[in-house]
Amino acid sequence: MNPFRIIVMFFIFVINLYAQDINLLTNIENRQKQSLNGQWKIIIDPYETGYYNYRYQPRTDGYFENRKPKDKSELVEYDFDNSEELTVPGDWNTQKEKLFLYEGTIWYKKSFQYKKKNNTRSFLYFGAVNYEAIVYVNGKKLGEHVGGFTPFNFEATNELVEGENFVVVKVDNKRKREGVPTLNTDWWNYGGITRDVDLIDVPDTFIKDYFLQLKKNSLNEIFGWVQLEGKETLQEIKIEIPEVRKTIKIKTDENGFAEFHFSVDLKLWSPENPKTYTIKIISQTDSIEDKIGFRSIDTRGNELLLNGKSIFLRGISLHEEAPFGGGRANSEKDADTLLNWAKQLGCNFVRLAHYPHNEKMIRKAEQLGLLVWAEIPVYWTILWENKDVLANAEKQLTEMITRDKNRAPVIIWSVANETPVGQTRYNFLYHLIKTAKELDQTRLITAATEIHSEKNKITLSDSLSNLLDVIGVNEYIGWYGGTAEDAPKTSWESKFNKPLIISEFGADAKFNLHGDAHDRFTEEYQANVYANQIEMLKKIPFLRGMSPWILTDFRSPRRPLPGIQDMYNRKGLISDKGEKKQAFYTLQNFYRKMVK
Ligand code: GCU
Repeated sequence: MNPFRIIVMFFIFVINLYAQDINLLTNIENRQKQSLNGQWKIIIDPYETGYYNYRYQPRTDGYFENRKPKDKSELVEYDFDNSEELTVPGDWNTQKEKLFLYEGTIWYKKSFQYKKKNNTRSFLYFGAVNYEAIVYVNGKKLGEHVGGFTPFNFEATNELVEGENFVVVKVDNKRKREGVPTLNTDWWNYGGITRDVDLIDVPDTFIKDYFLQLKKNSLNEIFGWVQLEGKETLQEIKIEIPEVRKTIKIKTDENGFAEFHFSVDLKLWSPENPKTYTIKIISQTDSIEDKIGFRSIDTRGNELLLNGKSIFLRGISLHEEAPFGGGRANSEKDADTLLNWAKQLGCNFVRLAHYPHNEKMIRKAEQLGLLVWAEIPVYWTILWENKDVLANAEKQLTEMITRDKNRAPVIIWSVANETPVGQTRYNFLYHLIKTAKELDQTRLITAATEIHSEKNKITLSDSLSNLLDVIGVNEYIGWYGGTAEDAPKTSWESKFNKPLIISEFGADAKFNLHGDAHDRFTEEYQANVYANQIEMLKKIPFLRGMSPWILTDFRSPRRPLPGIQDMYNRKGLISDKGEKKQAFYTLQNFYRKMVK
Protein backbone atom coordinates (compact mmCIF):
# COMPACT_ATOMS: atom_id res chain seq x y z
CA MET A 1 0.00 0.00 0.00
CA ASN A 2 1.51 3.40 -0.93
CA PRO A 3 2.97 5.30 2.05
CA PHE A 4 0.79 8.38 1.36
CA ARG A 5 -2.36 6.25 1.67
CA ILE A 6 -1.11 4.87 5.03
CA ILE A 7 -0.48 8.42 6.32
CA VAL A 8 -3.96 9.58 5.20
CA MET A 9 -5.57 6.49 6.70
CA PHE A 10 -3.72 7.15 9.99
CA PHE A 11 -4.74 10.84 10.13
CA ILE A 12 -8.34 9.99 9.27
CA PHE A 13 -8.41 7.27 11.92
CA VAL A 14 -7.24 9.82 14.52
CA ILE A 15 -9.77 12.44 13.31
CA ASN A 16 -12.46 9.88 13.64
CA LEU A 17 -11.22 8.96 17.08
CA TYR A 18 -11.63 12.53 18.27
CA ALA A 19 -14.94 13.00 16.45
CA GLN A 20 -16.29 9.85 18.09
CA ASP A 21 -15.06 11.03 21.40
CA ILE A 22 -17.31 14.11 21.54
CA ASN A 23 -20.24 12.46 19.76
CA LEU A 24 -21.34 15.81 18.28
CA LEU A 25 -23.93 15.94 15.51
CA THR A 26 -23.07 18.38 12.75
CA ASN A 27 -25.00 20.39 10.16
CA ILE A 28 -28.01 20.81 12.45
CA GLU A 29 -29.75 23.28 10.19
CA ASN A 30 -30.31 20.56 7.58
CA ARG A 31 -31.62 17.93 9.96
CA GLN A 32 -35.17 17.00 11.06
CA LYS A 33 -35.67 19.18 14.12
CA GLN A 34 -38.10 20.75 16.56
CA SER A 35 -36.99 24.15 17.90
CA LEU A 36 -37.21 24.66 21.66
CA ASN A 37 -36.41 28.35 21.34
CA GLY A 38 -38.76 30.83 22.94
CA GLN A 39 -39.81 31.67 26.49
CA TRP A 40 -38.34 29.43 29.20
CA LYS A 41 -39.33 29.51 32.85
CA ILE A 42 -36.46 30.31 35.18
CA ILE A 43 -35.42 30.13 38.81
CA ILE A 44 -32.51 32.36 39.84
CA ASP A 45 -30.52 30.26 42.34
CA PRO A 46 -27.39 32.04 43.64
CA TYR A 47 -26.98 29.47 46.48
CA GLU A 48 -27.60 26.48 44.17
CA THR A 49 -30.36 25.38 46.52
CA GLY A 50 -31.92 23.51 43.64
CA TYR A 51 -28.83 21.32 43.36
CA TYR A 52 -27.22 21.01 46.82
CA ASN A 53 -28.80 20.24 50.22
CA TYR A 54 -27.79 22.10 53.36
CA ARG A 55 -24.84 19.69 53.76
CA TYR A 56 -23.71 20.85 50.30
CA GLN A 57 -24.29 17.39 48.86
CA PRO A 58 -26.08 17.02 45.52
CA ARG A 59 -29.81 16.58 46.11
CA THR A 60 -31.79 13.67 44.68
CA ASP A 61 -34.92 15.81 44.69
CA GLY A 62 -33.49 18.93 43.07
CA TYR A 63 -35.23 21.46 40.84
CA PHE A 64 -34.52 19.18 37.85
CA GLU A 65 -37.58 17.19 38.96
CA ASN A 66 -39.86 20.16 38.23
CA ARG A 67 -41.99 18.78 41.06
CA LYS A 68 -45.59 19.83 41.77
CA PRO A 69 -47.03 19.30 45.28
CA LYS A 70 -49.37 16.26 45.15
CA ASP A 71 -51.65 17.92 47.70
CA LYS A 72 -51.84 20.96 49.95
CA SER A 73 -49.75 19.32 52.67
CA GLU A 74 -46.74 18.42 50.52
CA LEU A 75 -43.73 20.78 50.86
CA VAL A 76 -42.32 21.94 47.48
CA GLU A 77 -40.50 25.28 47.69
CA TYR A 78 -40.20 26.10 44.02
CA ASP A 79 -42.59 26.30 41.10
CA PHE A 80 -41.24 26.85 37.60
CA ASP A 81 -44.64 27.44 36.03
CA ASN A 82 -45.35 30.43 38.26
CA SER A 83 -41.85 31.77 37.92
CA GLU A 84 -40.48 34.48 35.61
CA GLU A 85 -39.21 33.86 32.10
CA LEU A 86 -36.21 34.45 29.89
CA THR A 87 -35.99 34.28 26.11
CA VAL A 88 -33.87 31.49 24.60
CA PRO A 89 -31.57 31.98 22.82
CA GLY A 90 -30.28 34.97 24.70
CA ASP A 91 -28.00 36.06 27.52
CA TRP A 92 -29.74 36.88 30.82
CA ASN A 93 -27.67 40.03 31.49
CA THR A 94 -29.38 42.21 28.89
CA GLN A 95 -32.85 40.75 29.40
CA LYS A 96 -33.34 41.76 33.05
CA GLU A 97 -31.82 44.80 34.79
CA LYS A 98 -31.31 42.74 38.00
CA LEU A 99 -29.27 40.14 36.08
CA PHE A 100 -26.96 42.64 34.37
CA LEU A 101 -24.02 41.76 36.63
CA TYR A 102 -25.34 38.36 37.78
CA GLU A 103 -22.85 35.49 37.87
CA GLY A 104 -24.15 32.24 39.26
CA THR A 105 -26.78 29.59 38.65
CA ILE A 106 -30.10 30.00 36.89
CA TRP A 107 -32.40 27.04 36.27
CA TYR A 108 -34.23 26.99 32.94
CA LYS A 109 -37.33 24.88 32.25
CA LYS A 110 -39.19 24.35 28.99
CA SER A 111 -42.25 22.15 28.55
CA PHE A 112 -42.98 20.84 25.04
CA GLN A 113 -45.06 18.32 23.16
CA TYR A 114 -43.31 15.42 21.47
CA LYS A 115 -44.60 12.71 19.13
CA LYS A 116 -42.68 9.44 19.45
CA LYS A 117 -41.74 7.87 16.11
CA ASN A 118 -40.63 4.35 15.21
CA ASN A 119 -36.97 3.68 14.30
CA THR A 120 -36.11 7.18 15.44
CA ARG A 121 -33.53 8.49 17.90
CA SER A 122 -33.69 11.96 19.42
CA PHE A 123 -30.90 14.30 20.48
CA LEU A 124 -31.17 17.52 22.45
CA TYR A 125 -28.78 19.96 20.77
CA PHE A 126 -27.51 23.24 22.29
CA GLY A 127 -25.65 25.78 20.14
CA ALA A 128 -23.98 27.01 23.33
CA VAL A 129 -24.62 27.57 27.05
CA ASN A 130 -22.35 29.84 29.11
CA TYR A 131 -20.50 28.37 31.02
CA GLU A 132 -21.51 25.11 32.71
CA ALA A 133 -24.72 23.25 31.81
CA ILE A 134 -26.38 20.23 33.40
CA VAL A 135 -29.26 18.92 31.28
CA TYR A 136 -32.28 16.89 32.40
CA VAL A 137 -35.30 15.58 30.49
CA ASN A 138 -38.41 14.63 32.44
CA GLY A 139 -36.30 14.69 35.62
CA LYS A 140 -33.59 12.37 34.27
CA LYS A 141 -30.04 13.66 33.86
CA LEU A 142 -28.75 13.46 30.27
CA GLY A 143 -25.33 15.01 30.78
CA GLU A 144 -23.08 17.96 31.58
CA HIS A 145 -21.12 20.37 29.42
CA VAL A 146 -18.40 22.91 30.21
CA GLY A 147 -17.44 25.78 27.89
CA GLY A 148 -19.59 28.72 26.87
CA PHE A 149 -19.08 28.94 23.12
CA THR A 150 -19.30 25.49 21.54
CA PRO A 151 -22.20 23.15 20.74
CA PHE A 152 -23.10 19.92 22.50
CA ASN A 153 -25.88 17.35 22.36
CA PHE A 154 -27.23 14.52 24.46
CA GLU A 155 -29.38 11.58 23.37
CA ALA A 156 -32.91 11.75 24.83
CA THR A 157 -34.57 8.86 22.97
CA ASN A 158 -35.29 6.81 26.09
CA GLU A 159 -36.28 9.76 28.29
CA LEU A 160 -38.82 11.32 25.94
CA VAL A 161 -42.49 10.31 26.25
CA GLU A 162 -45.49 10.72 23.94
CA GLY A 163 -47.13 14.11 24.60
CA GLU A 164 -45.99 16.49 27.35
CA ASN A 165 -42.28 16.56 28.20
CA PHE A 166 -40.02 19.01 29.99
CA VAL A 167 -36.35 19.85 29.82
CA VAL A 168 -34.51 21.49 32.71
CA VAL A 169 -31.05 23.03 32.37
CA LYS A 170 -28.94 24.19 35.29
CA VAL A 171 -26.79 27.02 33.86
CA ASP A 172 -23.88 28.44 35.83
CA ASN A 173 -21.67 31.22 34.45
CA LYS A 174 -19.51 31.64 37.50
CA ARG A 175 -15.92 32.47 36.44
CA LYS A 176 -13.27 30.05 37.72
CA ARG A 177 -9.47 30.25 38.04
CA GLU A 178 -9.29 26.81 36.42
CA GLY A 179 -11.74 27.86 33.70
CA VAL A 180 -11.17 28.37 29.93
CA PRO A 181 -11.32 31.35 29.86
CA THR A 182 -10.12 32.00 33.39
CA LEU A 183 -11.23 34.74 35.84
CA ASN A 184 -10.27 37.89 33.92
CA THR A 185 -11.28 38.71 30.38
CA ASP A 186 -11.86 41.99 28.60
CA TRP A 187 -15.41 40.98 27.58
CA TRP A 188 -18.74 40.65 29.36
CA ASN A 189 -19.45 37.31 30.97
CA TYR A 190 -22.90 36.94 29.38
CA GLY A 191 -24.66 34.01 31.03
CA GLY A 192 -27.44 31.77 29.84
CA ILE A 193 -28.62 29.56 27.01
CA THR A 194 -27.13 31.92 24.49
CA ARG A 195 -27.78 29.98 21.25
CA ASP A 196 -30.52 27.84 19.68
CA VAL A 197 -31.88 24.71 21.32
CA ASP A 198 -33.22 21.99 19.05
CA LEU A 199 -34.61 18.50 19.41
CA ILE A 200 -33.09 16.55 16.53
CA ASP A 201 -34.75 13.39 15.18
CA VAL A 202 -32.58 10.93 13.24
CA PRO A 203 -33.07 7.31 12.04
CA ASP A 204 -31.79 4.47 14.25
CA THR A 205 -28.65 4.41 12.11
CA PHE A 206 -27.84 7.89 10.89
CA ILE A 207 -25.13 10.00 9.29
CA LYS A 208 -23.54 11.50 12.38
CA ASP A 209 -20.70 13.42 10.78
CA TYR A 210 -18.77 13.90 7.53
CA PHE A 211 -15.88 15.84 6.09
CA LEU A 212 -15.38 17.10 2.54
CA GLN A 213 -12.56 19.45 1.61
CA LEU A 214 -9.87 19.89 -1.02
CA LYS A 215 -6.79 17.76 -0.28
CA LYS A 216 -3.82 19.83 0.90
CA ASN A 217 -1.92 21.41 -2.07
CA SER A 218 -4.63 20.39 -4.55
CA LEU A 219 -7.22 22.46 -6.43
CA ASN A 220 -9.31 19.56 -7.74
CA GLU A 221 -8.74 16.54 -5.49
CA ILE A 222 -11.40 16.14 -2.79
CA PHE A 223 -10.98 13.87 0.19
CA GLY A 224 -13.19 13.21 3.13
CA TRP A 225 -15.04 10.71 5.24
CA VAL A 226 -18.48 9.77 6.51
CA GLN A 227 -19.28 8.44 9.97
CA LEU A 228 -22.50 6.53 10.59
CA GLU A 229 -23.88 6.10 14.09
CA GLY A 230 -26.09 3.12 14.94
CA LYS A 231 -26.38 -0.65 14.52
CA GLU A 232 -26.41 -0.89 10.71
CA THR A 233 -22.77 0.07 10.27
CA LEU A 234 -22.08 -1.74 7.00
CA GLN A 235 -23.79 0.40 4.40
CA GLU A 236 -23.38 1.71 0.85
CA ILE A 237 -23.25 5.49 0.71
CA LYS A 238 -23.59 7.84 -2.24
CA ILE A 239 -21.91 11.24 -2.29
CA GLU A 240 -23.48 13.51 -4.92
CA ILE A 241 -22.60 16.94 -6.28
CA PRO A 242 -25.63 17.37 -8.57
CA GLU A 243 -24.50 20.66 -10.13
CA VAL A 244 -21.51 18.94 -11.73
CA ARG A 245 -23.27 15.55 -12.07
CA LYS A 246 -20.67 13.91 -9.85
CA THR A 247 -21.62 10.81 -7.84
CA ILE A 248 -19.36 8.41 -5.99
CA LYS A 249 -20.28 5.27 -4.08
CA ILE A 250 -18.44 4.11 -0.98
CA LYS A 251 -18.92 1.36 1.61
CA THR A 252 -18.70 1.89 5.39
CA ASP A 253 -16.72 -0.53 7.57
CA GLU A 254 -17.84 -2.31 10.75
CA ASN A 255 -17.36 0.99 12.60
CA GLY A 256 -19.74 2.74 10.22
CA PHE A 257 -16.81 4.65 8.80
CA ALA A 258 -15.75 5.25 5.21
CA GLU A 259 -13.18 7.54 3.71
CA PHE A 260 -12.88 8.64 0.10
CA HIS A 261 -11.12 10.89 -2.33
CA PHE A 262 -11.94 11.77 -5.90
CA SER A 263 -11.06 14.45 -8.43
CA VAL A 264 -13.56 16.94 -9.84
CA ASP A 265 -13.30 20.40 -11.39
CA LEU A 266 -15.18 22.92 -9.31
CA LYS A 267 -15.35 26.70 -9.13
CA LEU A 268 -13.30 27.47 -6.03
CA TRP A 269 -14.69 29.48 -3.11
CA SER A 270 -13.07 32.89 -2.65
CA PRO A 271 -14.10 36.30 -1.21
CA GLU A 272 -14.64 37.55 -4.76
CA ASN A 273 -16.69 34.45 -5.66
CA PRO A 274 -18.10 32.74 -2.52
CA LYS A 275 -19.34 29.77 -4.51
CA THR A 276 -20.81 26.79 -2.67
CA TYR A 277 -22.13 23.49 -4.02
CA THR A 278 -25.06 21.46 -2.77
CA ILE A 279 -23.69 18.17 -1.53
CA LYS A 280 -25.95 15.16 -0.92
CA ILE A 281 -24.82 12.28 1.29
CA ILE A 282 -27.23 9.36 0.99
CA SER A 283 -26.92 6.17 3.02
CA GLN A 284 -29.35 3.26 3.08
CA THR A 285 -30.99 4.57 6.27
CA ASP A 286 -30.38 8.31 6.20
CA SER A 287 -29.54 11.28 3.96
CA ILE A 288 -28.31 14.81 4.52
CA GLU A 289 -27.60 17.87 2.36
CA ASP A 290 -25.12 20.66 2.88
CA LYS A 291 -23.79 23.66 0.98
CA ILE A 292 -20.02 23.45 0.87
CA GLY A 293 -17.41 25.69 -0.73
CA PHE A 294 -14.07 24.31 -1.85
CA ARG A 295 -10.87 26.34 -1.59
CA SER A 296 -7.27 25.63 -0.66
CA ILE A 297 -5.31 27.63 1.89
CA ASP A 298 -1.58 27.32 2.38
CA THR A 299 1.65 29.16 3.10
CA ARG A 300 4.87 29.40 1.07
CA GLY A 301 7.55 31.07 3.15
CA ASN A 302 5.91 34.25 4.39
CA GLU A 303 3.30 34.17 1.65
CA LEU A 304 -0.32 33.24 2.27
CA LEU A 305 -1.87 31.34 -0.64
CA LEU A 306 -5.61 31.10 -1.27
CA ASN A 307 -6.36 28.72 -4.13
CA GLY A 308 -2.68 28.83 -4.97
CA LYS A 309 -2.54 32.63 -5.28
CA SER A 310 -0.92 35.06 -2.84
CA ILE A 311 -3.47 36.94 -0.75
CA PHE A 312 -3.46 39.81 1.77
CA LEU A 313 -6.06 39.57 4.53
CA ARG A 314 -7.86 42.93 4.85
CA GLY A 315 -9.54 42.27 8.15
CA ILE A 316 -11.21 43.45 11.31
CA SER A 317 -11.68 41.76 14.67
CA LEU A 318 -15.10 41.42 16.28
CA HIS A 319 -16.76 40.04 19.39
CA GLU A 320 -20.01 38.05 19.22
CA GLU A 321 -22.00 40.99 20.52
CA ALA A 322 -25.27 42.05 18.91
CA PRO A 323 -25.17 45.42 17.19
CA PHE A 324 -26.88 48.36 18.90
CA GLY A 325 -25.84 47.36 22.45
CA GLY A 326 -27.66 44.09 22.40
CA GLY A 327 -25.80 41.41 24.42
CA ARG A 328 -24.75 38.09 22.84
CA ALA A 329 -25.34 37.96 19.09
CA ASN A 330 -27.16 34.80 18.00
CA SER A 331 -29.37 35.61 15.04
CA GLU A 332 -28.86 35.62 11.28
CA LYS A 333 -29.81 39.31 11.38
CA ASP A 334 -27.04 40.07 13.88
CA ALA A 335 -24.54 38.25 11.69
CA ASP A 336 -25.80 40.06 8.63
CA THR A 337 -25.42 43.51 10.20
CA LEU A 338 -21.98 42.88 11.69
CA LEU A 339 -20.46 41.19 8.64
CA ASN A 340 -21.92 43.69 6.20
CA TRP A 341 -20.23 46.45 8.23
CA ALA A 342 -16.99 44.52 7.72
CA LYS A 343 -17.74 44.36 3.98
CA GLN A 344 -18.38 48.12 3.94
CA LEU A 345 -14.94 48.57 5.48
CA GLY A 346 -13.51 46.74 2.46
CA CYS A 347 -12.66 43.54 4.36
CA ASN A 348 -12.09 40.09 2.90
CA PHE A 349 -11.31 38.65 6.35
CA VAL A 350 -12.65 38.70 9.93
CA ARG A 351 -11.08 37.58 13.21
CA LEU A 352 -13.91 36.17 15.34
CA ALA A 353 -12.50 36.86 18.83
CA HIS A 354 -11.81 35.32 21.38
CA TYR A 355 -14.02 32.23 21.25
CA PRO A 356 -16.00 30.27 18.60
CA HIS A 357 -18.88 32.44 17.40
CA ASN A 358 -22.28 30.98 16.52
CA GLU A 359 -22.68 28.92 13.35
CA LYS A 360 -24.89 31.57 11.73
CA MET A 361 -21.90 33.94 11.76
CA ILE A 362 -19.72 31.38 9.97
CA ARG A 363 -22.38 30.52 7.39
CA LYS A 364 -23.01 34.24 6.80
CA ALA A 365 -19.27 34.73 6.18
CA GLU A 366 -19.52 31.82 3.71
CA GLN A 367 -22.32 33.62 1.84
CA LEU A 368 -20.72 37.09 1.94
CA GLY A 369 -17.20 35.96 1.03
CA LEU A 370 -15.31 36.74 4.25
CA LEU A 371 -12.38 34.58 5.27
CA VAL A 372 -12.43 33.63 8.96
CA TRP A 373 -9.95 33.33 11.82
CA ALA A 374 -11.68 31.14 14.45
CA GLU A 375 -10.39 30.95 18.02
CA ILE A 376 -10.78 29.17 21.36
CA PRO A 377 -10.76 31.21 24.61
CA VAL A 378 -7.26 30.25 25.80
CA TYR A 379 -6.92 33.86 26.82
CA TRP A 380 -4.22 35.61 28.89
CA THR A 381 -3.11 33.50 31.90
CA ILE A 382 -4.91 30.22 32.34
CA LEU A 383 -3.56 27.38 34.53
CA TRP A 384 -1.06 25.77 32.14
CA GLU A 385 -0.02 22.94 34.46
CA ASN A 386 -3.55 21.78 35.23
CA LYS A 387 -4.37 18.72 33.09
CA ASP A 388 -8.12 19.25 33.45
CA VAL A 389 -7.65 22.74 32.03
CA LEU A 390 -5.82 21.21 29.05
CA ALA A 391 -8.60 18.64 28.57
CA ASN A 392 -11.20 21.42 28.71
CA ALA A 393 -9.33 23.53 26.13
CA GLU A 394 -8.83 20.47 23.93
CA LYS A 395 -12.53 19.65 24.05
CA GLN A 396 -13.51 23.18 23.10
CA LEU A 397 -11.01 23.01 20.22
CA THR A 398 -12.42 19.67 19.07
CA GLU A 399 -16.01 20.93 19.26
CA MET A 400 -15.12 24.07 17.29
CA ILE A 401 -13.32 22.12 14.54
CA THR A 402 -15.98 19.41 14.41
CA ARG A 403 -18.75 22.00 13.90
CA ASP A 404 -16.98 24.18 11.29
CA LYS A 405 -14.58 21.84 9.45
CA ASN A 406 -16.70 21.87 6.28
CA ARG A 407 -16.95 25.67 6.15
CA ALA A 408 -14.78 27.14 3.38
CA PRO A 409 -14.37 30.64 4.91
CA VAL A 410 -12.60 29.28 7.99
CA ILE A 411 -8.91 29.26 7.03
CA ILE A 412 -7.19 29.58 10.40
CA TRP A 413 -7.68 27.98 13.80
CA SER A 414 -6.22 30.06 16.65
CA VAL A 415 -5.28 28.27 19.86
CA ALA A 416 -4.42 31.22 22.14
CA ASN A 417 -4.48 34.98 22.73
CA GLU A 418 -1.76 36.99 24.52
CA THR A 419 -0.44 34.12 26.61
CA PRO A 420 2.78 34.49 28.63
CA VAL A 421 5.99 33.06 27.13
CA GLY A 422 7.14 30.06 29.19
CA GLN A 423 7.71 26.28 29.07
CA THR A 424 4.41 25.20 30.64
CA ARG A 425 2.45 27.42 28.25
CA TYR A 426 4.57 26.12 25.35
CA ASN A 427 3.81 22.49 26.28
CA PHE A 428 0.12 23.24 26.73
CA LEU A 429 -0.19 24.92 23.33
CA TYR A 430 1.98 22.26 21.72
CA HIS A 431 -0.72 19.72 22.62
CA LEU A 432 -3.53 21.88 21.30
CA ILE A 433 -1.72 22.50 18.02
CA LYS A 434 -1.06 18.78 17.64
CA THR A 435 -4.76 18.04 18.22
CA ALA A 436 -5.83 20.69 15.73
CA LYS A 437 -3.48 19.27 13.09
CA GLU A 438 -4.77 15.74 13.71
CA LEU A 439 -8.36 16.90 13.40
CA ASP A 440 -7.85 19.02 10.32
CA GLN A 441 -4.75 19.09 8.10
CA THR A 442 -6.40 21.39 5.55
CA ARG A 443 -6.23 24.62 7.59
CA LEU A 444 -3.54 26.83 9.15
CA ILE A 445 -2.79 27.18 12.85
CA THR A 446 -2.03 30.43 14.61
CA ALA A 447 -2.01 32.20 17.96
CA ALA A 448 -2.11 35.91 18.85
CA THR A 449 1.28 36.50 20.45
CA GLU A 450 2.61 39.61 22.12
CA ILE A 451 5.65 41.72 21.25
CA HIS A 452 7.74 44.31 23.00
CA SER A 453 9.43 47.03 21.00
CA GLU A 454 12.89 48.29 21.85
CA LYS A 455 13.96 51.65 20.49
CA ASN A 456 11.47 51.42 17.65
CA LYS A 457 12.58 47.93 16.67
CA ILE A 458 10.41 44.87 16.96
CA THR A 459 11.85 41.40 16.60
CA LEU A 460 9.48 38.45 16.54
CA SER A 461 11.00 36.09 19.06
CA ASP A 462 8.23 34.05 20.71
CA SER A 463 9.42 30.43 20.27
CA LEU A 464 5.76 29.37 20.01
CA SER A 465 5.95 30.72 16.45
CA ASN A 466 8.00 27.65 15.51
CA LEU A 467 4.81 25.62 15.96
CA LEU A 468 2.54 28.01 14.07
CA ASP A 469 1.77 28.21 10.34
CA VAL A 470 0.91 31.90 10.61
CA ILE A 471 2.16 34.26 13.34
CA GLY A 472 -0.43 36.52 14.96
CA VAL A 473 0.79 39.62 16.80
CA ASN A 474 -1.21 42.04 18.94
CA GLU A 475 0.45 45.46 19.30
CA TYR A 476 -0.84 48.74 20.68
CA ILE A 477 1.75 51.29 19.65
CA GLY A 478 0.14 54.65 20.33
CA TRP A 479 -2.28 53.38 22.98
CA TYR A 480 -0.72 51.12 25.64
CA GLY A 481 2.78 52.27 24.77
CA GLY A 482 4.53 55.07 22.88
CA THR A 483 2.84 57.64 20.70
CA ALA A 484 0.94 57.10 17.46
CA GLU A 485 3.85 58.69 15.61
CA ASP A 486 6.26 56.02 16.95
CA ALA A 487 4.62 53.44 14.71
CA PRO A 488 6.00 54.53 11.31
CA LYS A 489 9.46 54.83 12.92
CA THR A 490 9.25 51.20 14.08
CA SER A 491 10.97 48.47 12.08
CA TRP A 492 10.04 44.80 12.22
CA GLU A 493 12.21 41.71 12.01
CA SER A 494 11.41 38.02 11.97
CA LYS A 495 13.56 34.91 11.74
CA PHE A 496 10.58 32.65 11.21
CA ASN A 497 10.01 33.06 7.44
CA LYS A 498 6.26 32.74 8.05
CA PRO A 499 3.33 35.04 7.25
CA LEU A 500 2.53 37.65 9.89
CA ILE A 501 -0.98 38.86 10.72
CA ILE A 502 -1.31 41.90 12.97
CA SER A 503 -4.26 40.47 14.86
CA GLU A 504 -4.83 43.58 16.99
CA PHE A 505 -4.00 47.28 17.11
CA GLY A 506 -6.24 50.20 17.97
CA ALA A 507 -7.27 52.95 20.37
CA ASP A 508 -10.37 53.87 22.37
CA ALA A 509 -12.59 56.68 21.10
CA LYS A 510 -15.97 57.83 22.35
CA PHE A 511 -18.21 58.53 19.34
CA ASN A 512 -18.62 62.28 18.81
CA LEU A 513 -15.93 63.21 21.30
CA HIS A 514 -13.63 65.52 19.43
CA GLY A 515 -10.34 67.23 20.11
CA ASP A 516 -6.70 67.26 19.10
CA ALA A 517 -5.10 64.12 17.62
CA HIS A 518 -3.32 63.60 20.95
CA ASP A 519 -6.38 63.96 23.16
CA ARG A 520 -7.15 60.45 24.33
CA PHE A 521 -10.59 58.99 23.76
CA THR A 522 -11.33 61.45 20.93
CA GLU A 523 -12.15 60.30 17.40
CA GLU A 524 -9.15 62.29 16.19
CA TYR A 525 -6.79 60.37 18.49
CA GLN A 526 -8.11 57.01 17.23
CA ALA A 527 -7.92 58.09 13.57
CA ASN A 528 -4.38 59.30 14.12
CA VAL A 529 -3.36 55.95 15.58
CA TYR A 530 -4.84 54.20 12.54
CA ALA A 531 -3.15 56.53 10.06
CA ASN A 532 0.25 55.96 11.67
CA GLN A 533 -0.26 52.22 12.07
CA ILE A 534 -1.08 51.93 8.38
CA GLU A 535 2.17 53.73 7.50
CA MET A 536 4.11 51.22 9.65
CA LEU A 537 2.28 48.15 8.41
CA LYS A 538 2.88 49.02 4.77
CA LYS A 539 6.61 48.63 5.43
CA ILE A 540 6.60 45.17 7.06
CA PRO A 541 7.84 42.83 4.30
CA PHE A 542 6.33 39.65 5.76
CA LEU A 543 2.95 41.14 6.73
CA ARG A 544 0.12 39.17 5.10
CA GLY A 545 -2.89 40.39 6.97
CA MET A 546 -4.39 42.54 9.70
CA SER A 547 -7.50 42.54 11.92
CA PRO A 548 -7.53 45.79 13.90
CA TRP A 549 -9.20 45.84 17.28
CA ILE A 550 -12.19 46.17 16.75
CA LEU A 551 -15.35 46.53 14.60
CA THR A 552 -17.74 47.79 17.29
CA ASP A 553 -17.53 49.04 20.88
CA PHE A 554 -18.28 46.13 23.21
CA ARG A 555 -19.16 45.66 26.87
CA SER A 556 -16.38 44.98 29.32
CA PRO A 557 -16.46 45.05 33.11
CA ARG A 558 -12.82 46.25 32.97
CA ARG A 559 -13.76 49.64 31.49
CA PRO A 560 -15.45 51.86 34.13
CA LEU A 561 -14.31 55.35 32.97
CA PRO A 562 -17.47 57.40 33.52
CA GLY A 563 -18.93 59.41 30.63
CA ILE A 564 -16.50 57.78 28.21
CA GLN A 565 -16.30 54.02 28.61
CA ASP A 566 -19.21 53.29 31.01
CA MET A 567 -18.40 49.58 30.95
CA TYR A 568 -17.64 49.59 27.22
CA ASN A 569 -14.32 49.03 25.51
CA ARG A 570 -14.46 51.94 23.05
CA LYS A 571 -11.91 50.68 20.52
CA GLY A 572 -14.71 50.05 18.06
CA LEU A 573 -14.67 51.77 14.66
CA ILE A 574 -18.44 51.79 15.14
CA SER A 575 -20.14 52.76 18.40
CA ASP A 576 -22.55 50.51 20.33
CA LYS A 577 -25.31 52.53 18.63
CA GLY A 578 -24.03 51.80 15.14
CA GLU A 579 -22.38 55.20 14.59
CA LYS A 580 -19.23 55.17 12.46
CA LYS A 581 -16.17 56.95 13.86
CA GLN A 582 -13.51 58.81 11.79
CA ALA A 583 -11.10 55.86 11.95
CA PHE A 584 -13.70 53.70 10.18
CA TYR A 585 -13.09 55.80 7.06
CA THR A 586 -9.29 55.87 7.61
CA LEU A 587 -9.21 52.09 7.41
CA GLN A 588 -11.84 51.93 4.63
CA ASN A 589 -9.73 54.27 2.43
CA PHE A 590 -6.65 52.12 3.00
CA TYR A 591 -8.47 48.91 2.08
CA ARG A 592 -10.07 50.54 -0.94
CA LYS A 593 -6.68 51.64 -2.24
CA MET A 594 -5.39 48.09 -1.75
CA VAL A 595 -7.93 46.52 -4.11
CA LYS A 596 -7.58 49.19 -6.76
C1 GCU B 1 -5.98 42.84 24.25
C2 GCU B 1 -6.97 41.71 24.17
C3 GCU B 1 -8.35 42.17 23.89
C4 GCU B 1 -8.61 43.50 24.59
C5 GCU B 1 -7.68 44.53 23.98
C6 GCU B 1 -7.84 45.88 24.63
O1 GCU B 1 -5.12 42.81 23.31
O2 GCU B 1 -6.62 40.67 23.32
O3 GCU B 1 -9.24 41.19 24.34
O4 GCU B 1 -9.93 43.89 24.46
O5 GCU B 1 -6.36 44.15 24.22
O6 GCU B 1 -7.13 46.13 25.58
O7 GCU B 1 -8.67 46.65 24.19
